[in-house]
Amino acid sequence: MNHFLDIDKTTPQDLRAMIDHAQSMKAARNGRPKGSADDEQPLKGRMVALIFEKPSTRTRVSFDVGVRQMGGETMVLSGADMQLGHGETIADTARVLSRYVDLIMIRTFEEAVLLEMAEHATVPVINGLTNRTHPCQIMADVMTYEEHRGPIAGRKVVWSGDGNNVFASWAQAAGQFGFDIAFTGPPTLDPEAAHLDFARAKGSRAEIVRDPFQAVQGADLIVTDTWVSMHDPQSAKERRHNQLRPYQVNERLMAAAKPDALFMHCLPAHREDEVTSAVMDGPQSVIFDEAENRLHAQKAVIRWCLGV
Ligand code: CP
Ligand code: NVA
Repeated sequence: MNHFLDIDKTTPQDLRAMIDHAQSMKAARNGRPKGSADDEQPLKGRMVALIFEKPSTRTRVSFDVGVRQMGGETMVLSGADMQLGHGETIADTARVLSRYVDLIMIRTFEEAVLLEMAEHATVPVINGLTNRTHPCQIMADVMTYEEHRGPIAGRKVVWSGDGNNVFASWAQAAGQFGFDIAFTGPPTLDPEAAHLDFARAKGSRAEIVRDPFQAVQGADLIVTDTWVSMHDPQSAKERRHNQLRPYQVNERLMAAAKPDALFMHCLPAHREDEVTSAVMDGPQSVIFDEAENRLHAQKAVIRWCLGV
């Protein structure tokens, strides 16, 4: 069994195999009703726990539907309804859940909770987002890029905005899939240096460029995300908005990238803040393909975790 904890903890070979598998599973479902079962039922008789300590639309629904398409069953648990955080240790929760279910997906705050769950669970654990990373999102995003433009290796991805958890997984992916990454944003919201260092150590060009228009020169893909993440205090909202406004992805910024550059956003988006509607709904945007591909990519992740 394998845990899927982060892009940098999974080998490039396994990551590539999962993306290719996701593409073939997506093709096999071509035109089928969304609720219909896959021809293959590798999760038949298996139960998956989906734990959410933060809100979710895409992660929740895509995991739930994906497991059912593969013949499995799910239980969606909200952190608030569990004994988690009411005194029972994460380790004990992991041991107990492992007696009931075949796989655990958890969205939580501190990365330490995810790691403790994985250390003590005897079934696979999948990272459904922490304050630090969001690997399932980036699996879907790499799949989406390649669907539209072919191999991502050798391309240039530019992130404009907050150096947050989604950026962290993009930077790790740069190292593992062999593309270049540039971060543009205010110095106060720089990403953790370790993520850029990881990409560099794997041979990627990973840089911080303060001027967004300079950063997007030669970009094949521009990505952004909310200016205030779920773990950020609401009191920081006004300050963040003021700092991040110059990094909004709008038509002017898109025009400074390569003419065939794509635009991505993991969603949920705040229209006219980090991105304009003109870009979100424009011809370069692939945001809804990204959302769909969460389903296909995560099905491949689940099968890799379970070895089925
Ligand atoms: N992109 C993403 O993870 O969305 P949700 O928060 O809706 O799951
Ligand atoms: N950075 C965002 C991503 C949401 C999917 C957050 O953590 O809230």
